[in-house]
Amino acid sequence: MATGSRAQFSSRFGFLMAAAGSAVGVGNIWGFPTQAASNGGAVFLLVYLFMVFILAYPLLVAELTIGRYGQANPIKSIQSIWPKQKMAAAGLGIAGMVAVSMILSFYAIVAGWLLGSLLSSLFALIGLDAAAEWVNTFGTERNLVMMVIFMIMTVRVVKSGVTDGIERWSSRLMPVLFILFALLTVYILTLDGASEGLEMYLVPDFSHLSSDLVISAMGQAFFSLSLGVCAMMVYGSYLSKDTNIPKTAAQVALLDTGVAFGAGLLILPAMFVAQKNGVEIYDAAGALLSSDTLVFTVLPAMFDTMGTMGIVISILFFVLMLIAALTSSISMLEVPVSCATEELNKDRSTVVWWIGGIITLVSAVIIFNYADLFGLVITATTVYAQPILALIFALLVGWVWRRDQLLTEIKQGNPEIEDSLFWKIWPWYVRVVCPALIILVLIS
Ligand code: PHE
Repeated sequence: MATGSRAQFSSRFGFLMAAAGSAVGVGNIWGFPTQAASNGGAVFLLVYLFMVFILAYPLLVAELTIGRYGQANPIKSIQSIWPKQKMAAAGLGIAGMVAVSMILSFYAIVAGWLLGSLLSSLFALIGLDAAAEWVNTFGTERNLVMMVIFMIMTVRVVKSGVTDGIERWSSRLMPVLFILFALLTVYILTLDGASEGLEMYLVPDFSHLSSDLVISAMGQAFFSLSLGVCAMMVYGSYLSKDTNIPKTAAQVALLDTGVAFGAGLLILPAMFVAQKNGVEIYDAAGALLSSDTLVFTVLPAMFDTMGTMGIVISILFFVLMLIAALTSSISMLEVPVSCATEELNKDRSTVVWWIGGIITLVSAVIIFNYADLFGLVITATTVYAQPILALIFALLVGWVWRRDQLLTEIKQGNPEIEDSLFWKIWPWYVRVVCPALIILVLIS
């Protein structure tokens, strides 16, 4: 839909599930717990909570507000708040679009591994042992096939558009995710060994507090709330004017943080349960194994020791992870798709295959040059692009956007806001405190 009636989320619940779906992803269930495990457990948790509520939440409000004001793709939305510099504004939109496409290109590889693990459990259940082995073994062809399947799933959802694709699938899948997640966590916590994991997670070890930890926590918070790369901006652009953005953003941040916290209650105890079952979780130097080894080796090894029940649990776990990955990947793909459909005036169903195809190709290049590119792309996007773009968005909202327009937009959907603490704090907070904090962390 290039002109005229633009798509909108049909309900508040639908938007909440879509935005929470974008936020809750592999970053929460895999990234957060393993970062916490190797960074002093509860110390990381505390710094992370601080980062989410002090820094990421106000920025989430900012990105959603730019999108809702613009009611258009990120390129146009940024131009609408920075009309004097249309070229620079377009450049920023394009930068966000490229960054999010690069994120998708590595995210799809990780999601492919999750798919491989899921299929492996399914094949094992029906006795197809050779197939189970192949889909579960790290290798170029396997990685390629799984990544392509995941990209096709992502493209198919986004092709159906905002209400029939993104909103419908997020509203269906996210409740399933919450239920599976709660069931699995409760189950793991009853197993022998779980309490050691809990202790590592919940008892702070302050000797780990360092500037590196603070940087990791900030990066994790930005990644987890999908900030800096226009994903939340594009979802905001499909919001109706009667939605209360500060409140909805708070709900998204709480759901996201709740799942990250809960994932710690699931994964860390699971590691120690695995250890009790004879699975090694530390490397030769005594450090915790890396996060991919944990999720793709330690957990499956633990499931293996649990017989058929283990296969069922493992299927549930990987279904859960895939749901989380898919509801995030669709928000990534929507950014370039909305830009291309609206800017080039093309039909969504054609554009989505083209863009999906290009990202799949980039992803394939990473797979073929895995050792050189995989880590590099992750660092370039999550350590540099996300914080820097988030910083620029904060500066735009704080200093460039006409104040009266910004305040009117925030007030839409919440006429009583003028009495609130949020109203008194947020406008100068995004202007001064957010940029200062990001710069401080970046240069330290
Ligand atoms: N928030 C997602 C996660 O935690 C990842 C993501 C990053 C989604 C950037 C959209 C944009 O897995």
